[in-house]
Amino acid sequence: MSAVLKVRVWRGGADGAFREYEVPRRESQTVLDVVTHIQRTLDPTLAYRYACRVGMCGSCAMTVNGAPRWTCRTHVDKVAGDGRLTVGPLRNLPVIRDLVADMREFFDKWAHARGQFRGARTRADDVERVSPQSAARRRADAAIECIGCGVCYAACDVVAANPDYLGPAALNRAWTLVNDARDTGNDERLRAVAGDGASLACHTHMSCTERCPKALSPTAGIAGLKRAVARAALRGKL
Ligand code: SF4
Ligand code: FES
Repeated sequence: MSAVLKVRVWRGGADGAFREYEVPRRESQTVLDVVTHIQRTLDPTLAYRYACRVGMCGSCAMTVNGAPRWTCRTHVDKVAGDGRLTVGPLRNLPVIRDLVADMREFFDKWAHARGQFRGARTRADDVERVSPQSAARRRADAAIECIGCGVCYAACDVVAANPDYLGPAALNRAWTLVNDARDTGNDERLRAVAGDGASLACHTHMSCTERCPKALSPTAGIAGLKRAVARAALRGKL
């Protein structure tokens, strides 16, 4: 193992360029460790984003050697066997500066897909009980661990071709709520995900599912949404 990593890091906005740094290689080093070393010891003007460092907050995602990844859980040994790393901001989002992508349109699309829970009970009511064994609860469980990292969104070629497409994370969230027996907003939600810019635009490339660091399958959720939209259309609800 070489003692030094050669790291190319994107600097500037959309019209920026890569700049090269040399970083000491260490045992169990993550890509986020490398970026942090550059910012703390070589170039304090480098902008990047992270919070938890343990795979929970979703804020550290970047493009690493051409693929979107959560950098706090990506070990250098796994992606830079030849001692070279290229790190850039997430694809399919505007670049604010350096490694920081502007996530606003990503989360605006969650809102557009009606990704907010809408219950009917008040604090005066009993808590609604949902059986862990119910089929809908199991479907919701399979999709619910999303950390909003944007990796799937950056990996999606449909988003790249059609910036209006809601994208895998927003649709995965909609699917979670479609399966939440307590939620009362499904008619509106299914209308929101029925159009050409929504679930029907998915070409089932599976890039989101291949890249999701939480091993979720937005592809499966989008397929479920397509079926739910078709059933709603047959019932005259769209
Ligand atoms: S579905 Fe997976 S890749 Fe997409 S935002 Fe959620 S955790 Fe990240
Ligand atoms: S820093 Fe929170 S998921 Fe990576």
